[in-house]
Amino acid sequence: MKSSIIVDDRESRWFFTQQEYTEMAPKVRLAHDLLHSGKGPGKEFTGWIEWGREFDREEYERVKQVAAEIRNQADAFIVVGVGGSYMGAKSAVEMLCSTVNNGDGPEIYFAGHQLSSLYFANLLKKLNGKKEIYINVVSKSGTTLEPAIAFRILRGYLEERYGIEGARKRIIATTDREKGALKQMADKEGYRTFVVPDTIGGRYSVLTSVGLLPIAVCGINIDEMMEGALDGKKTCDEPSLAENPAYQYAVLRNLFYLKGKSIEVLVNYDPYMHYFGEWWKQLFGESEGKNHKGIFPASAMFTTDLHSLGQYIQEGRRNLFLTTLWFDKSPEDIVIPLLNNHEDGLDHLVGRNLDEIKNKACQGTMKAHSDGGVPNIKITIPEMSPYYYGQLVYFFEKACSISGYLLGVNPFDQPGVEMYKKNVTRLLEKPESTGK
Ligand code: PA5
Repeated sequence: MKSSIIVDDRESRWFFTQQEYTEMAPKVRLAHDLLHSGKGPGKEFTGWIEWGREFDREEYERVKQVAAEIRNQADAFIVVGVGGSYMGAKSAVEMLCSTVNNGDGPEIYFAGHQLSSLYFANLLKKLNGKKEIYINVVSKSGTTLEPAIAFRILRGYLEERYGIEGARKRIIATTDREKGALKQMADKEGYRTFVVPDTIGGRYSVLTSVGLLPIAVCGINIDEMMEGALDGKKTCDEPSLAENPAYQYAVLRNLFYLKGKSIEVLVNYDPYMHYFGEWWKQLFGESEGKNHKGIFPASAMFTTDLHSLGQYIQEGRRNLFLTTLWFDKSPEDIVIPLLNNHEDGLDHLVGRNLDEIKNKACQGTMKAHSDGGVPNIKITIPEMSPYYYGQLVYFFEKACSISGYLLGVNPFDQPGVEMYKKNVTRLLEKPESTGK
């Protein structure tokens, strides 16, 4: 097994005592036992825990075959989904597509996560310039407004371009095994389908067909990703707090919360990690924000946001803490060049690696924020690769579920999401006939 993810709390130790930390150990043990005994709140949605071992091999092979076909045939591939039905895929595609050789794979677009006419008009214009287009519509329920509308628009577009039969071959639906509007439509129309497992909620589903098909279409090695998740499981299933990095992270954030820190900012130092932050925000926000409790999850990209949010973090309200995602090894190596007559005062950096400079920026920033009263957690990942994407996913899913149990909430439901949906549905209802 390769190295594991490491949680480093050195820039936050001033904020809690060792006793406060060790007092959390028995609570974590209880939360661990509750989760692993399958008796905790939301127990019916804990299928992601054993997924790395128990996933459907036949479906997995089909994912790879269909992905290969799409890579071979398509110029454009559109993933239609919202929330947990697209964020994981987008985070992996953003993080890893620049590090793998995508070869001749299609351009990947995402739709169904908003209601912007401008976005659709521009997407359709781009598609007009493409010869072969495939769609993967991902929705467990099939009735979620944003992806349902996007699918309607894009299905119509495909049918116009390729005819009904031609469109049918190019539409793949990922949905419930048995029920729901999309499943019914897929069966009626004869679309190829993949399954959103019954026991895995949307935000925990990236390593199922929901995320794996788009990720494989991008040319990312999903075998390595699944292997990473399984290896992540070995450390992140350890019952002991001392041995388990996911539990260490869960304990730190709960300690900070109990001591008044109600906002967590997930910091990354790579633009390709932006969507990973979005995935993480959904995971923690939807899992913990209930019963008027929970840490508000925010994200930032450094050093970029040091020039916008940096002032607030350094000197604003002291209700936040930072969690930095740090990759030890970069896939690329850029060296600062020597230029004649370039008097920017940086000649002492010539020949040094950009990542070394980024490392110093990270150290200096964490120290400054820590000195300013903001606790910092650093999560170190050996490298940006499919394997470590898999490890990271399991690490955060495990941390999130234990953190939710420590907080006293069900980390696997999302009752609050229904409120806005009900209002929008009511506002869009067909007007009652007046009989005139
Ligand atoms: O995490 C979740 O459960 C949600 O974000 C859902 O994934 C999202 O609302 C989309 O739902 P559906 O897949 O039914 O369209």
